[in-house]
Amino acid sequence: MRLGLKILVLCIIAYSLFSYQGTTAQNKKESTNYPNKDSELAILMRDLVENTEKVKKQIINGEEIEFFIEFKKLHTAVPTEVNLRDDGLYTAFTESYIYSVKELINTENDKATLYNNMIQSCINCHQQICPGPVKRIRKLKIKK
Ligand code: HEC
Repeated sequence: MRLGLKILVLCIIAYSLFSYQGTTAQNKKESTNYPNKDSELAILMRDLVENTEKVKKQIINGEEIEFFIEFKKLHTAVPTEVNLRDDGLYTAFTESYIYSVKELINTENDKATLYNNMIQSCINCHQQICPGPVKRIRKLKIKK
């Protein structure tokens, strides 16, 4: 429980930083200048958001989708909370998320639905482990 609370607090802090950075495109770039404050995983998550926004546009425009993220890094990137992977929950959610990405990559059919399923797996992990950004992640869904 104490660990859960700690992660929650960290996520709320991460979320406030994230929404602040979201206010101007300029500030977003500057965030890489503070490597001591931002964990490797937090930076990976920001790249993930950027990549996901790009893929969303590609699907809406009927273009080929491109992922530049190395998804394996989700398993190894150093998080703000060092005990994050201890109870196995994070790892299980990561596998489920990567599975949903593969489903999207491998389909030629309803990409929008599989894309929204993928966003739902971001949300599933975040609801359990890091609820701060959930509202922001929901907005990544494709409206149909
Ligand atoms: C397996 C669990 C998991 C999945 C899946 C996941 N996240 Fe995260 N996310 C986290 C954790 C844990 C953090 C906190 C990272 C840290 O501070 O070290 C985080 C942080 C973030 C942040 C805040 C980053 C910052 O600036 O500090 C955003 C935004 C985010 N995730 C968006 C997403 C999006 C979008 C997806 C799906 C494309 C996603 N996440 C998938 C667990 C997950």
